Amino acid sequence: MATLRLGDTAPDFVQDSTEGSIHFHEWAGPSWVVLFSHPADFTPVCTTELGKTAALSGEFARRGVKPIAVSVDPVDSHVKWVKDINETQSTTVNFPILADADRKVATLYDMIHPNALANATVRSVFIIDPKKVIRATLTYPASTGRNFDEILRVIDSLQLTDSHKVATPANWKDGDDVVIIPSLQDAGELAQRFPKGFTVVRPYLRMTSQPNK
Ligand code: BEZ
Repeated sequence: MATLRLGDTAPDFVQDSTEGSIHFHEWAGPSWVVLFSHPADFTPVCTTELGKTAALSGEFARRGVKPIAVSVDPVDSHVKWVKDINETQSTTVNFPILADADRKVATLYDMIHPNALANATVRSVFIIDPKKVIRATLTYPASTGRNFDEILRVIDSLQLTDSHKVATPANWKDGDDVVIIPSLQDAGELAQRFPKGFTVVRPYLRMTSQPNK
């Protein structure tokens, strides 16, 4: 199994889920996708992560993103767990959880890291664009719950930088100043793309206000 890298096509699969059988690429359709794995059902950190994802469902939808979780337990266990998540996290899980008991998805996406956690997935995240290209990945250990605001921030950066010739600096968040990509040197294009101007800190470090604000 080859390691999945940024720019690779996200592997397709058919797998059972809390919302029935899912053919991944068809299910994704024209949306962005956040595919994220959990060590196991009925575990405390995972419960809070799925509750947080459900609570942020409006934020994912606003960006055209569909979340989908993976856990290597069967669907009847997931269904019971979702009831607990909804009760304890005061939310409604409204995205599918893949029932990956045969580890088809976990294996395709290399989510089991046996030297860190035997027999279960670590906390992997794949951010996948509408062309089914893997655009960002995160990998956290079982003991560390993920920051879903950070996942939204990465999606904001990807969507902004796909449509403007900018990149986002350290700790950037939506609305902050951005950097102009170094390859853009044409004075006419710079003036047309950044009519509010930009600051040359160094020839390779040019700051401008976020162009779509
Ligand atoms: C959890 O989700 O709480 C968890 C799962 C596996 C190991 C440690 C914590």
